[in-house]
Amino acid sequence: MIKNTILSIFLCILFSNRIHSIEEFVCIETSVCLCNSYDNKYIDISPLGKTNLTVENQNLRFFFYPCRNVSLDYKDIGVNSTATSDCASGATLCVYNTTDQKLTNLGIVTEGKFSNFYPKTLSFLHGNKSTTVLLECTPDFDISYLVNSVSDGNHYNFTLFSPHSCTKTAHPGLSVGSTLLILCTTIFGVYLIGGALVLHFLRGARGRETIPNIEFWSSLPGLVKDGTIFVLTGCNPMVISSADTYDKI
Ligand SMILES: *[C@@H]1O[C@H](CO)[C@@H](O)[C@H](O)[C@H]1NC(C)=O
Ligand SMILES: *[C@@H]1O[C@H](CO)[C@@H](O)[C@H](O)[C@H]1NC(C)=O
Ligand SMILES: *[C@@H]1O[C@H](CO)[C@@H](O)[C@H](O)[C@H]1NC(C)=O
Ligand SMILES: *[C@@H]1O[C@H](CO)[C@@H](O)[C@H](O)[C@H]1NC(C)=O
Ligand SMILES: *[C@@H]1O[C@H](CO)[C@@H](O)[C@H](O)[C@H]1NC(C)=O
Ligand SMILES: *[C@@H]1O[C@H](CO)[C@@H](O)[C@H](O)[C@H]1NC(C)=O
Repeated sequence: MIKNTILSIFLCILFSNRIHSIEEFVCIETSVCLCNSYDNKYIDISPLGKTNLTVENQNLRFFFYPCRNVSLDYKDIGVNSTATSDCASGATLCVYNTTDQKLTNLGIVTEGKFSNFYPKTLSFLHGNKSTTVLLECTPDFDISYLVNSVSDGNHYNFTLFSPHSCTKTAHPGLSVGSTLLILCTTIFGVYLIGGALVLHFLRGARGRETIPNIEFWSSLPGLVKDGTIFVLTGCNPMVISSADTYDKI
């Protein structure tokens, strides 16, 4: 019973990281362009803070100034108009509609929010204009470019193809799981080889007998089965193997 529990807990620690990373992506925003996730992972689009990303789609021209507010007036975009620009007070994302010749503010930099779910996005809600920028990781590209897909006057969707859209790892160090695995493999190797030597030379064991704790290892397939059931049932200590657990699965 104790062996079962230890093995099960070990399997849970090994696999919990993986299960976690598939299900959700939690990225805590630490500044307007940076969010940090578990396991030293982060997304940092601040290198884009020096670039101007513009994109045209039919009658719309979008101006995206990542990580900062830029004051945009009609004269800045070569339009002869005396009207007050909605983006004059500063915007990170601004749209010019060539049909009604108006600049509309789609968001200021502090309104940007990283999504905590897949797919990875950066979104803005400005008044009743909601904008979603899908962060598409292109690690082999040097340049970044923006594509506009949706624009119905209130909702705007973009995709930002960029090497800075990628999830990066701060210290390419070993995760808890890998460290445990290496540690256990080493200890196991020492135990197996050391045990075999001791049994061989001190007790004169031969063949199968040189394997330490042979009865335990013979029963291992059954224990692994218990452990797997334990992991699959969400590591609930109440369901550690009993005869009926096998029936349930
Ligand atoms: C980006 O746009 C701003 C404001 O229009 C301008 O001052 C700056 O020179 C532009 N930078 C680049 C690299 O185009
Ligand atoms: C952007 O503008 C908003 C509102 O004007 C302001 O609160 C914010 O501090 C500005 N951020 C930067 C980086 O300029
Ligand atoms: C801008 O428009 C006004 C009339 O709306 C006109 O008088 C003026 O000459 C125009 N300026 C330029 C630079 O086109
Ligand atoms: C929201 O949009 C409606 C029309 O779509 C408009 O009449 C209203 O003024 C907008 N509200 C704000 C706060 O921009
Ligand atoms: C652009 O302006 C025209 C004319 O006012 C309007 O019908 C259209 O919905 C606008 N487009 C967007 C995306 O706001
Ligand atoms: C636009 O983005 C939002 C938020 O991610 C999403 O729910 C919606 O389906 C997108 N619209 C289209 C047409 O892709």
